[in-house]
Amino acid sequence: MKILVVGGGGREHAIASALSRNTQTAILSVMAKRNPGIDGIAGKVLLAKETDVPRIVSFARENDVDYAFIGPEAPLEAGIVDALGAAGIPTIGPAKTAARIETDKAFCRDMMERNAIEGCPKYRVFHSLPEAEEFIEDYEGDLVVKPIGLTGGKGVRIMGEQVDRAGAIDYVRTLHGEAVLEERLIGEEFTLQAFVDGTHLVPMPLVQDHKRAFDGDIGPNTGGMGSYSMPDHMLPFVTKADYKKAIEIMKSVVAAMERTGQPYKGILYGQFMNTTEGPKVIEFNARFGDPEAMNVLSLLTSDLSEIVHHIAEGSLLPSHVSFDAQATVCKYLVPDGYPDSPHAGDPVLIGSHDDALLYYANIERSNGGLVTQTSRTLAFVGLGETLEQAEQAAESAASAVKGKVRHRRDIGTQELLNRRIAHMKELR
Ligand code: AMP
Ligand code: GLY
Repeated sequence: MKILVVGGGGREHAIASALSRNTQTAILSVMAKRNPGIDGIAGKVLLAKETDVPRIVSFARENDVDYAFIGPEAPLEAGIVDALGAAGIPTIGPAKTAARIETDKAFCRDMMERNAIEGCPKYRVFHSLPEAEEFIEDYEGDLVVKPIGLTGGKGVRIMGEQVDRAGAIDYVRTLHGEAVLEERLIGEEFTLQAFVDGTHLVPMPLVQDHKRAFDGDIGPNTGGMGSYSMPDHMLPFVTKADYKKAIEIMKSVVAAMERTGQPYKGILYGQFMNTTEGPKVIEFNARFGDPEAMNVLSLLTSDLSEIVHHIAEGSLLPSHVSFDAQATVCKYLVPDGYPDSPHAGDPVLIGSHDDALLYYANIERSNGGLVTQTSRTLAFVGLGETLEQAEQAAESAASAVKGKVRHRRDIGTQELLNRRIAHMKELR
């Protein structure tokens, strides 16, 4: 079986690595920069923009690939799944109209409301600046301002946290009034990812990501600095009832998409805020999370190539998917200055990492060494019987790296976990 992986980050290295555990599967890759990890797995690489749909389709055709697996959101928005489908290549990822669940935040909220799907915060969509300004002026409580389109996870402004009312108005001006304004949710965030074949949904272990740049959840939002998961695949601040509700919400979305003629195939990523009223949807993504893909794919004990086949055929069953009962901790190393003014071109020396898996991200080989680029550099995933073991494995690998890079030391520590649990207790 030949599978084309589109994308060149840590997430795609994890996808390629999981696919390659089946020795019958040949991996091909399209990426913008040569990720050393993917480069070592793929038999053939096309260096091209991940949104260059015609070039990617030609490459897939010339090489007779059986399936394609799309890592990032940008090619989904560019219609890559539709184009590959027209060329007879089934793809893991939703078609352009179904990917709006991520690429168009107004579509996502309206779809939830029209289909009476639970967990939708109070929201309104605006296309006019005076109306949006007036709404912010008059709203009682804190709002969240979201651009309608893709922003790489960095486009949201939260009143009462990052901006005050005047700041929210200033921000909505920069968006010319094109925004979703929604109630600010208070709680603990968690990620639920699932394989979806158009009809059936099979969930993966829960993960918690860390968006803020620095220890203690301070500093600007990033693409994600790291993430952890627990041996029971749950999180200690998510009850069984919360989990059931989150699964129901995701299943309702899949059913609604199918009913309205835009069936959803691929990975569905639910970002939830666990609140006093149970889980509410912060957003959906039409792909694996990055870093969250690295947690769950490192645990996957079943054959991802087989899962790809079943998603394409619409024959996915829970029995096709199993995960090891271990904890995972993923820590990203990022270049100095990331995310606001990242410094690129610095050499990186990887130290001993015997107990952790290494996933390369935005890093290139140069003159026999490795050098940083402007985005997240590389990640380590520690696995263990306990969270503590997993954390220690990731931490010792991360701190053994030399160069102008940094990472968060607190991700996956018991101290941080205790804070999350205490916060949820206090709210409830
Ligand atoms: P997004 O780009 O939608 O992932 O949002 C980035 C981050 O903003 C999320 O991870 C949350 O921490 C926060 N956020 C988004 N929407 C809300 C909301 N309605 N209430 C509180 N925080 C939110
Ligand atoms: N880790 C968040 C995302 O992939 O969007």
